[in-house]
Amino acid sequence: MELVEVRFPAAGTFVCVAPGTTLLAAAALAGVEIVTGCTRGMCGTDAVRVACDRADALEPPTGAELGTLQRMGLEADSRLACSARVRAGTVEVLGDAVVDGPVAPRG
Ligand code: FES
Repeated sequence: MELVEVRFPAAGTFVCVAPGTTLLAAAALAGVEIVTGCTRGMCGTDAVRVACDRADALEPPTGAELGTLQRMGLEADSRLACSARVRAGTVEVLGDAVVDGPVAPRG
């Protein structure tokens, strides 16, 4: 199984995780805090912008995540950290999609 690299440039760190891992779980492994609410794709608190090295780097949004992204009117490069699962390649988590601030390092 090939691991997926998840980078957090604002925190200057990254982790390699198994496909299927959420961005939120990857952040926790990296020691990066992402503020969350429901953790079920409903509230949008953890919306982040992402940059991927390939089109299939993330699983496409489904169900609750897709509905929340659309309701919030977020751009196509935005995902909900609790719901977005990595699939392959490299994913950069660029920061908060709503506030546009950096992802704060935990500590
Ligand atoms: S924490 Fe509510 S949508 Fe992710």
